Amino acid sequence: MENQRKNHVPHCLVLPYPLQGHINPMLQFSKRLVQQGVKVTLVNTISIWNKINKNNLDLNSIEIESISDGYDNGGLSSAENMESYKETFWKIGPKTLSQLLQKLQSSNNPVDCVIYDAFLHWTFDVSKSFGIPVGVFLTQACSVNNINFHAFEKWIELPISKSEIILPGLPKLEASDLPSFLYQYGTYPGYFDILTNQFSKIDQAEWVLVNTFYELEPEVVDWLAKKWRLKTIGPCVPSMFLDKRLKDDNDYGISTFGPNSEACIKWLDNKPKDSVVYVSFGSLAGLSEDQTKEIAYGLRDCEMYFIWVVRDSEKGKFPKEFLDLSLEKGLIVNWCPQLQVLTHEAVGCFVTHCGWNSTLEALSVGVPVIAMPLWTDQITNAKFIVDVWKIGVKGIADEKGVVRRETIKDCITDIMETEKGNEMKKNAVNWKSLAKIVVDEGGSSDKNIVEFLNELTL
Ligand code: UDX
Repeated sequence: MENQRKNHVPHCLVLPYPLQGHINPMLQFSKRLVQQGVKVTLVNTISIWNKINKNNLDLNSIEIESISDGYDNGGLSSAENMESYKETFWKIGPKTLSQLLQKLQSSNNPVDCVIYDAFLHWTFDVSKSFGIPVGVFLTQACSVNNINFHAFEKWIELPISKSEIILPGLPKLEASDLPSFLYQYGTYPGYFDILTNQFSKIDQAEWVLVNTFYELEPEVVDWLAKKWRLKTIGPCVPSMFLDKRLKDDNDYGISTFGPNSEACIKWLDNKPKDSVVYVSFGSLAGLSEDQTKEIAYGLRDCEMYFIWVVRDSEKGKFPKEFLDLSLEKGLIVNWCPQLQVLTHEAVGCFVTHCGWNSTLEALSVGVPVIAMPLWTDQITNAKFIVDVWKIGVKGIADEKGVVRRETIKDCITDIMETEKGNEMKKNAVNWKSLAKIVVDEGGSSDKNIVEFLNELTL
């Protein structure tokens, strides 16, 4: 019996919410587990697996399985709206996950732990009905989780009536620094529901794993760790970009938008050090036509090289004449290997929507930021980028909510050409060193992963 236990290969089922920004970090975390000798089954919806070119995906022996969200031929984008997507997914997801667990539990190597994205909170009950321990995986910053947790507990009054918000473990915040679903309460009820329900069973989970690192948000991590069995395990960024052990790992994450554009790297190879502005607004959010135009002309007016990721769904918003004008100085791509681009020495700054992955990536590879948050946690991340981690400036929007071309030009110039910009670059490089330390052997995140595995195999 004892010997059988010794030879047992622990098996984790990992279930991210079906969005690029959630699958990427949970895939990277899965790879860390595989590296430690764990068998991982990565589960996602049929429509996500259909979208991803698996030939481009280096899975390091991770196995893939599917559940259904009820939209097998298109996922969220084929649903009428977010609310109906969620309603259908919440009905069909638990049933199909249950069928999958039934199959896996009667196999030779049943699942020892289900690590699920907190967005899919119903996974707790499904897993427990099979008697399986769970790890809740939080894909956003601890600071943001703490704010959303306060909303879930109704410790923040909604709609917000105060102008200043004081919460444990966090600096003083303006109401407008809160995630948009709270500050603009009522705007997206479907997302509000998902974000607050993340915490519904969290205090009963065996583990709470957060994609952040201790040194980035120590006070709030300490505060939440008094409530939950919390372990910081980030940044979940492919190891090769942090110069560490998995040097042969050639994976840049997943792409649900077609092949990565290698053209970017060739183009960057011919540019001087720190001369290129990299612009990307992530995988989900759309810009207004007005905002797209202002970015286009802001980039033109600052007369610097740039790479701008414009997803196909956003192309129609482009000022037509800009495509001709931009050819000399800029490269516009549908998608790119973002980490490879950010680590290229030609890139001098990152104009970003401040999605949590992009934020962690900028911090982990030492690139200063121009923060142009759009909604959700991005607003709060931008506050921390500027005031706490001090790696960037914020593009302030006008009364119509648009960051104008002059502001964009000034922000880029500030970062690329001034002493203030140099300071931010230095700060970013300091965070990069810390990110390397925490994931390297004996670092805070590495220790937490080892501890989690020791507890799992007890
Ligand atoms: C979403 C939410 O918008 C974000 O606020 C939340 O924190 C996570 O989920 P998304 O908008 O896609 O994420 O942004 P982000 O979190 O930054 O994730 C985007 C990922 O796609 C990053 O890992 C980035 O490296 C990758 N990416 C982006 C590419 O690989 N290539 C690109 O061209 C653009």
